[in-house]
Amino acid sequence: MIRVLGIETSCDETAASVVALEGTSAPEILSPKILSNVVLSQIAEHAAFGGVVPEIAARAHVEALDGIIEAALADSNTSLDEIDAIAATAGPGLVGGLIVGLMTAKAIAGAAGKPLLAINHLEGHALTARLTDGLSFPYLLLLVSGGHTQIVRVAGVGDYQRWATTIDDALGEAFDKTAKMLGLPYPGGPNVEKAAAKGDPARFAFPRPMKGSAQPDFSFSGLKTAVRQAAQAIAPLTEQDVADICASFQAAVADALADRVSRALMRFKVEFPQEEQPALVVAGGVAANRMIKTTLEELCDETGFRFVAPPLKLCTDNAAMIAWAGIERLNAGFEEENAFDFVPRSRW
Ligand code: KG4
Ligand code: ZN
Repeated sequence: MIRVLGIETSCDETAASVVALEGTSAPEILSPKILSNVVLSQIAEHAAFGGVVPEIAARAHVEALDGIIEAALADSNTSLDEIDAIAATAGPGLVGGLIVGLMTAKAIAGAAGKPLLAINHLEGHALTARLTDGLSFPYLLLLVSGGHTQIVRVAGVGDYQRWATTIDDALGEAFDKTAKMLGLPYPGGPNVEKAAAKGDPARFAFPRPMKGSAQPDFSFSGLKTAVRQAAQAIAPLTEQDVADICASFQAAVADALADRVSRALMRFKVEFPQEEQPALVVAGGVAANRMIKTTLEELCDETGFRFVAPPLKLCTDNAAMIAWAGIERLNAGFEEENAFDFVPRSRW
């Protein structure tokens, strides 16, 4: 059995987790177990500012991280002695938070004489579906969060091809900015979704950015501008106006997303023989959105894809995915990497 302690501090969640893998080292025969998964959200500390404030985030990680790690060890009934390696997010993200997490991990690993793994946060998201659903390679990943909007072909541990990314705003960012323009509280996504439930999605004909374009990438800033112009044109806004704008925005997003994703599905599907079903995994906070999820689910049904949406707790930021990426890297033979020299990378 391998047990890895994971640490995640790249944004506004302070998180630690212990994940175990029993049995074999063959990567396709996995029986992983999440022994603990502790996530402390800093949302309350940033809400007054309408977004994550890096300096506040870094300080909050400093205050909370020791206690969160202790809680993760206690919840898992594991002592530090029994841990085989420490895995910490080393980028990309807010550098203050990354420094707190990686330096803490270095200190623990150094003092306890354990191997240290510097994990790419996106690799954590990319490999989660193997932890939750035992997927085998290759599969397609749609990552839609506050910081990322990407389609990635996940071919193996450390083997990723980015097929699409956003040329401007991330999708979660577009939700957050739309909410801010409309006076809805942070974080914007859930509040836009709630308001949209009472709105008319056909009232505003917002643009579907990139729809029909042969280029694979995403774009959301034009949509954001259209929302701002519509809101300014009818201000002051009633509650119904806000609901209608949210519903129309969400409809435009779902439509644009479906167009972009369906292109990638077509491209990926040709790799598979008829009798094999390819899989699409969605991850990131925006995957919590009902309408977006349903749209993607229908798209998968129509195109013969298996739709995999790991439980929300594991597809928003958490440390179980970091511990798991550590286990995958150990199993894949990456253990010679010396993460003690690793410098946190805000971009990676
Ligand atoms: O993955 P996540 O928790 O953190 C990172 O950004 O890494 O994603 C947070 C993002 C925020 O932008 C938030 O507004 C968005 O996910 N989000 C949603 C919903 N819930 C969270 N967007 C749309 N609909 C939702 N229900
Ligand atoms: Zn993330």
